[in-house]
Amino acid sequence: SKGAALVTAVAQRLASLRQQVDETLCPFKLSQEQLQLVKARMRAGLEAGLKTKGSSAIKMLPSYVYRTPDGTEHGKYLALDLGGTNFRAMMVNFKRQNARLYHKIYTIPLEIMQGTGEELFDHIAQCVSDFLDYMGMKNAHLPAGFTFSFPCEQTAIDTGTLVSWTKGYKATDCEGHDVVSMLREAIKRRNNNATFDLDIVAVVNDTVGTMMSCAYEDPQCEIGLIAGTGTNVCYMEEKKEVDAELSKMCINTEWGGLGDDGSLDDIITPYDMEVNQNSINPGRQRFEKLTSGMYLGEIVRQVLLDLTRGGLLFRGHVTETLKTPGIFETKYLSQIESDRLALLQVRSILQQLGLKGTCDDSIIVKEVCGAVSRRAAQLCGAGMAAVVDKIRENRGLDHLNITVGVDGALYKLHPHFSRVLKDTTEVLAPQCNVTFLPSEEGSGKGAALISAVARQMHG
Ligand code: GLC
Repeated sequence: SKGAALVTAVAQRLASLRQQVDETLCPFKLSQEQLQLVKARMRAGLEAGLKTKGSSAIKMLPSYVYRTPDGTEHGKYLALDLGGTNFRAMMVNFKRQNARLYHKIYTIPLEIMQGTGEELFDHIAQCVSDFLDYMGMKNAHLPAGFTFSFPCEQTAIDTGTLVSWTKGYKATDCEGHDVVSMLREAIKRRNNNATFDLDIVAVVNDTVGTMMSCAYEDPQCEIGLIAGTGTNVCYMEEKKEVDAELSKMCINTEWGGLGDDGSLDDIITPYDMEVNQNSINPGRQRFEKLTSGMYLGEIVRQVLLDLTRGGLLFRGHVTETLKTPGIFETKYLSQIESDRLALLQVRSILQQLGLKGTCDDSIIVKEVCGAVSRRAAQLCGAGMAAVVDKIRENRGLDHLNITVGVDGALYKLHPHFSRVLKDTTEVLAPQCNVTFLPSEEGSGKGAALISAVARQMHG
């Protein structure tokens, strides 16, 4: 009958839709073998970076932090934190294993992130000045730690030459310059009555700050992980050969650069290529572009564009909204993937974003988000497995217990990322028992702690 034929036709269309969506998402589903390969490549990248000093895909930058805190740190410190869309200024007071903290957040407008270096550092100096006014501390002369979350070549704890901008920054005349001097000069440039003195004793990557702040609570913490706008890891490396007395140093891996030499080409999808091409730093930070908040939404958008062009989504209508870069911020991914959300709510989020669709569309969008964020967490897990196994082997152990201090919105706010990361690490590094410890006020408090440790070391 006609009715039966119609039912068959609809069923066939649904089946073929299903098949086409599955085919599109297939390259995002990594097998155990592929994840083992990523682990091995990360390991090789870490070793190469240690040997070649800076010229390899993974930079392995020395941090001049020789130990984690031991609880004897005390006093008042200023912490300045630049790395994402905000600048944070903080005052931290350590007293008998207790830290009190005051902070203020300032946004960094896009035109300042991507303007001149002078404008960027003038803006930071202005924020610091405002914070000191607010705290009534213009004349206090506190030691300051500067968390600067970009790759820096350091020769001491208080100098750092920016190697290259990452994430959304591209201010001119900064690469190749010492960021501490740039900040000092910006403070000097201010007219006399608004000038203040800043005693910058440490420049710190956010991973290192996060590790230090978590180590303050848990002495087993010797790794710092950021899964946020960007992704990166630091860890305590044994360096007996270099100095007999100081047997360890924290290394900022800059693991986001894995793949910049082509080593991830076999897992990179056409959608990833598109995201890379449209970014402000094509060809660089390939691992970061598969795993961090700044890019996941863009990958999702590329997949949705493709599905829509293929007539599988939004009735085949490619709207201006869907063509707009940046519409899928990480916070929307987190919301869409939340299991507590009914499909109708997913649909209403999409509507708020300007994407009108049916409930069937919502199912597909949710699946796309899931595939992209799951791959990100698995890749980070594979990377983490490489790091913990390296530490275990360095120490000649059969079994290692270790804690990873973690910060970043992707880790803290996404409904599944942290679990998938932990599971993958466990499977790929079975000889390690890895505890992930979310940091509180991580990088700022850490910069203050490092300043405290640095001052103790100098007597
Ligand atoms: C980028 C930066 C790195 C930072 C990470 C997380 O990867 O290059 O220095 O740690 O983002 O903020």
